[in-house]
Amino acid sequence: MNKAVRKAVIAGNWKMNKTPAEAKELLNAIAPLVKDAGCDVVACVPYVDLQTALEATAGTNIKIGAENCHWEPSGAFTGEISADMLAAMGVEYVITGHSERRTYFGDTDVTVQKRTRAALDKGLTVIVCVGEYLEQREQGITAELVAMQTKIALQGVSKEELARVIIAYEPVWAIGTGRTATAEQANEVCAVIRGVIKDLYDAEAAEKMVIQYGGSMNAKNAAELLAQPDVDGGLIGGASLKPADFAEIVKAATVG
Ligand code: 13P
Repeated sequence: MNKAVRKAVIAGNWKMNKTPAEAKELLNAIAPLVKDAGCDVVACVPYVDLQTALEATAGTNIKIGAENCHWEPSGAFTGEISADMLAAMGVEYVITGHSERRTYFGDTDVTVQKRTRAALDKGLTVIVCVGEYLEQREQGITAELVAMQTKIALQGVSKEELARVIIAYEPVWAIGTGRTATAEQANEVCAVIRGVIKDLYDAEAAEKMVIQYGGSMNAKNAAELLAQPDVDGGLIGGASLKPADFAEIVKAATVG
């Protein structure tokens, strides 16, 4: 597989952090540090920060994303935000299936598929998260589980639409714990996902598929992770809130 055919994507996932004023400050600090990036740079921010983030990054190479979306265009879904609403704002990216949504807010493989489908229908690029709990890794079912999560999420997604899909492999035990997967562990599962794409679509689709690693990626370990043949970028939590660290990861992706 030729990694050179894929452009790396480094995406920050701010989670439930930053007010609009703080978001503006953070993006203004990040923008000059990543302006020469050789990879795509995305910041996925809380809903209330989206408008400010779009304005703060206008004319820069930073793209803005949301952290979730609902599958219905509108309706009686208190507290939810639709893909239609995001698209209407000019938001370009959205995360679906983050493990924190699955663990704390009842998201399932089926709802992740529905959210992904709706986002693609509205022209968004979707970062679909998959990954195993520690007990599942210890049980030896990581590959099967991640393959299943990927297959369900991509149900009904055409080969052409895959150009707007990024899969993020995020082992749950590595998220926010400081316990990163080794570069080999990350690459092994990213390669499994690429194999699933080959089975579902074809070799060309697999070769073009952008697959990120996420889970305690930071300025120190990014270069090794991003140098792996099947790791095409990162979904960054904590380190995306620190301009110098995030810029260092972007730099590592540019070199890798
Ligand atoms: P951390 O980088 O804080 O471990 O978070 C990873 C993550 O969940 C990104 O979506």
